[in-house]
Amino acid sequence: MPIPFVEPFRIKMVEPIRMTTREERLGILSRATLNLFKVKADDIFIDLLTDSGTNAMSDQQWSAMMQGDESYAGARSYYRLKDAIEDIMGFPLFIPTHQGRAAEGTLFSVMVKPGDVVPSNRHFDTTMGNLLELKARPVDLVVPEAADTSLDAPFKGNMDLKKLEEFIQQTGQENIPLGMLTITNNTAAGQPVSMENIRGTAEIYRKYGIPFFIDACRFAENAFFIQQREPGYAGKSIKEICREIFALVDGCTMSAKKDAIVNIGGFIGLRDPGLFEQLSGKLILHEGFITYGGLAGRDLEAIAQGLYEATDAEYLKYRILHTQYLGDVLEQAGMPIYRPTGGHAVYINAGAVLPHISPSRFPGVALANSFYIEGGVRTVEIGSLSFEHVDPVTNENVVPDLELVRLAIPRRVYTRSHLDYVGEIAGEVFAQRDRIRGLQVVEAPALLRHFLAKLAEV
Ligand code: F0G
Repeated sequence: MPIPFVEPFRIKMVEPIRMTTREERLGILSRATLNLFKVKADDIFIDLLTDSGTNAMSDQQWSAMMQGDESYAGARSYYRLKDAIEDIMGFPLFIPTHQGRAAEGTLFSVMVKPGDVVPSNRHFDTTMGNLLELKARPVDLVVPEAADTSLDAPFKGNMDLKKLEEFIQQTGQENIPLGMLTITNNTAAGQPVSMENIRGTAEIYRKYGIPFFIDACRFAENAFFIQQREPGYAGKSIKEICREIFALVDGCTMSAKKDAIVNIGGFIGLRDPGLFEQLSGKLILHEGFITYGGLAGRDLEAIAQGLYEATDAEYLKYRILHTQYLGDVLEQAGMPIYRPTGGHAVYINAGAVLPHISPSRFPGVALANSFYIEGGVRTVEIGSLSFEHVDPVTNENVVPDLELVRLAIPRRVYTRSHLDYVGEIAGEVFAQRDRIRGLQVVEAPALLRHFLAKLAEV
C-alpha cells in the first residue's frame, strides 16, 4: 500500500490538550459573544484558527535561541539573520520587525500617503487595514479563476495581468507608490502564484516605474508549488526558485510567524539604501533599534534557522500533502471545499454549505462556530465579516466574492489522527447544516471588526 506521506520529524516534547463537553462549549461561545477570537485557547481542542505563530520549533531552533545575542546594537544574531535572508532571498538589506503587520505598517508609513492606491492579487486583512488607516486604497486584482471553488488549475492565486495594466493606466502611476503581490494568496484560499505570473507582474510594475514588494509570508510553500506544477521547474531546488522569485522584486514584507516556522517575528527585505535609511528612522521610533526591531536576539536566531528548515524540500512535501489530507477528510465528510487545496490551509465553501444564510448574515462565522460547538475545533471565517469594507476613495462598499471557512494548519503541530478527528466533526456539522442559523453584528470597531465583534444569532 502506498504511504501518502510521513512526518519528517519525531516528537520530543508534548503539550496536553483538553476536551470539553458540548454543553460547556455552548456556554463558552455564548460568553465569547459568538466570536471564536474571544475564546480561551485552553477551551479549544484542535486549534486551526491560524498557521501564524502557532508553529512547533525544532531542536535546532531551540538550541540556536540559546545562542541569542541580546546586545542592543549590532548583535551577532542580527548578522546571522541578515546572512540567512541574503542567502535564501537575496536581499542585501533587511529591517527586523515584531511581526508581518509591523513590516507593512513601517513600509507604508514611508511610502504611502492619503488617496494613494496599492494594487495586489489580494491584500490580507492587516495589509488592507494598514492602507485604510492611511486613507489609501487597497485594490485586489486576482485572476477570475480564484472565485471558482472547484476548477482544478495550478495557480489560482495569480495576478490578473491584463486588469493590472489597465488599472495602472486608469489610475495613473503617480498615484501608485508601490505594487504588491501575496504569495501564496491567503485570501484566495492559499492558492499559489506562478513564476511566470510573478515575472509578468514585475514587468508591468517596472514599465510604469512602480516599486514592487512581495508579501512573502508563505514564500517557501509557494516555491514548492512552482517546483511541482510549473513547466521547467521540476529540476530546480527550492532555494533556486526562491532566489529567482526575489530577484524579480524590490523588496518584501514578511511575517516570520508563517514560513520561518517561529512564534513571533517579521521583517522587510529590500535593496534600496535610501529607503533603508528612511525605514530605519521609523523603526527606531516605533519598533526598536535597527538591529533588533521589536524582537529579542534569540528570536532573530530562531528565524534564521527556521528559514532554512521551511525551505527544506522534504519538509515542504510533508507540509503540502498534510494539508491535502485534511482536504480529503473534509470532502469525505461531505464538505464542499476549495480545490485544489492550498499550502497552509483548507477552505470550506461556507456559502455552499449554508445556502439559507445570506452573506450579510455571515455563513462563514456560523459554520466556524458549529465546528467549535460540535467538537472544540477552532477555525476562522474568511468572508464578509473579515473583509467587507468601505473604499476610502470611492466610498463604495466592497464585499468578498466568497464566504469561506479556513482551517489553517500550524506547522509540525498536529498529526494525521488529529486531522481525522476534524474530519469526523466535519461530518457531524454537515449532517446538521440545515439547523445552523445566521448571525448579526451587535457591536464592532470600524477597522478589522472581526477580531473584536460581538455577535448574536438572528
Ligand atoms: N500577510 C499575509 C498574507 C498574512 O497571512 C498575514 C497574517 C500578514 C500579512 C500579517 O502578518 O500576523 O505577522 O502581522 N496572517 C495570519 C493569518 C494572521 O491567520 O492568516 P502578522
